[in-house]
Amino acid sequence: MKKVLLSGIQPSGRPHIGNYFGMMKQLVDLESEYEVYALIVDYHAMKSVQNPKEMKENIMAVLLDFLAIGLDPKKAIIFKQSDIAEHTELAWIFETITTMPYLMRAHAFKDAEAKNKEIDVGTFNYPMLMAADILLYSPDIVPVGADQKQHLEIARDTAEKFNRIFGKTFKLPEAMIMKDVAVVPGTDGQKMSKSYNNTIPLFAEYDEIKKCVMSIVTDSSEGIPKNVYAIHNLLRPASELLPLYEEKTGKYKELKEMLIEDLEKFIAPMREKRKEWEKRLPEALKILKEGSEKAKKVASAKMAEIKEKIGVNINI
Ligand code: ADP
Ligand code: TRP
Repeated sequence: MKKVLLSGIQPSGRPHIGNYFGMMKQLVDLESEYEVYALIVDYHAMKSVQNPKEMKENIMAVLLDFLAIGLDPKKAIIFKQSDIAEHTELAWIFETITTMPYLMRAHAFKDAEAKNKEIDVGTFNYPMLMAADILLYSPDIVPVGADQKQHLEIARDTAEKFNRIFGKTFKLPEAMIMKDVAVVPGTDGQKMSKSYNNTIPLFAEYDEIKKCVMSIVTDSSEGIPKNVYAIHNLLRPASELLPLYEEKTGKYKELKEMLIEDLEKFIAPMREKRKEWEKRLPEALKILKEGSEKAKKVASAKMAEIKEKIGVNINI
């Protein structure tokens, strides 16, 4: 039996190279070794996407993204959360065994509170739905970026608590956070994030790559422009880069031009593959449907076990 790997991404906008190195790449790298579940978490994205046309487009976009990075539908199960009611069903069960003060310690909630935002119940309960996404499939590992570490801890705590109350039911998942790419920096040196306007989109066209790289913030006092180097280091090892950066000390423009070419080399094949998949949308949608059917079988078997454990199954 293969070990199981699961991870999810919200259909909430264009993916960037931070998403790729932090999470998406691991799915492709490990798809032969593990049974891979690649999940599109559309119900989670409802927090920010509340327009049906946009939601539909975003879901199809993530599907194409997954295929374009090289996930093989014969190996990986690509599926979406809203097709499997067990996710929201299990989230409710978890909510009944979780306290408010515990969830109030979640970073996402604390940040929203600090900004005096009106916090919706979905944002507050977000980690419960994520725990359900994960625990239904008994994964051994969950590759994510460092920002998701706490969510993984909540999933583990919730599994442990359920197991304590109702008997061993859930396997405790391990977060897989790759040290070198746990926090991929953006063009301004902060964590690359859709919400900070500092991304390099994963499927950017050449001109867009150029624009993003030229906007990377450099400090004139630096010998090595550290923001340029940090992004470059995703594509080439230090042993290759350091001599180059030393040779071109202070020549930011030339270094940026090199980075543009390296990014183009890395992005272009995936960008082309994505364009091909765009033309084969019906086939892609069939892959999603079949993925959801496979996942549904696993989720409903697990749910039957859970219902038995909590005593709501009274069929004799
Ligand atoms: P964003 O912060 O851009 O909205 P998401 O929340 O959609 O990104 O993240 C999707 C996945 O990509 C998660 O596993 C997250 O940890 C990972 N990720 C996002 N940004 C980065 C980053 N800058 N470095 C490493 N991983 C990241
Ligand atoms: N919270 C994750 C993010 O914002 C998305 C997510 C939802 C997820 N469910 C998941 C990630 C299950 C891994 C496993 O990026």
